Amino acid sequence: MSKKGFIFDLDGVIVDTAKYHFLAWKKLANGIGVDFTETQNEQLKGVSRVKSLEKILAWGNKTILQEEFNQLMAKKNEDYLSYIAKMDASEILPDVPKVLSYLIKEKQPISLGSASKNAREILKKVNLYQQFDAIVDGNDVSKAKPDPEVFLIAAKLLKIKPEDCIVFEDSVAGIQAANAANMISIGVGEKDVLQEADYVFSDFTEMENSFIEELINR
Ligand code: BG6
Ligand code: MG
Repeated sequence: MSKKGFIFDLDGVIVDTAKYHFLAWKKLANGIGVDFTETQNEQLKGVSRVKSLEKILAWGNKTILQEEFNQLMAKKNEDYLSYIAKMDASEILPDVPKVLSYLIKEKQPISLGSASKNAREILKKVNLYQQFDAIVDGNDVSKAKPDPEVFLIAAKLLKIKPEDCIVFEDSVAGIQAANAANMISIGVGEKDVLQEADYVFSDFTEMENSFIEELINR
């Protein structure tokens, strides 16, 4: 049986944390007098903490000293972690366990490929940590999505060639990273937003096991 590498983004794909990132960034942006819309938030999905704050400051035409920059990043994370603290398995997105179980049954290697530095903690909180053969997160990379580094490291850890890897992503930056890594990109979200993906599903409830089987055998 052929083996493929299945790489999952975390925020917005496995768990519904995208809403918490949004709330925390909105509070921070508004607190320094910068507007923050859902459309702008879309551009922060998959983007590292540092790059996200740089974008918000650019949108608001603000320049600040490094010290204040660091304080704002710490504040955002503190806020975000206050939401995470209350998380449990009920915040796993629909049918994610079904897909993971199927891949495990089919003996397919599975990795996380996330920009978040909180990824390991979140996976443990929702009880999915043990399901992954490899975990690559924001602590392991030097270049943020849309750079392919995070997914290329995951492929290496799984010992699967990049062209035999499949990436599940909810962000534009993540789909671009998967495409740049020469992997199959599967968007989880809206078709209009994730136009560059090879396939798009609104969520995992739309994805049949037969589709995954086709991916394994292609
Ligand atoms: C990504 C999120 O998964 O991780 C981004 O989509 C977030 O919104 C990024 O900025 C970094 O996460 P964290 O938890 O390290 O701030
Ligand atoms: Mg995401």
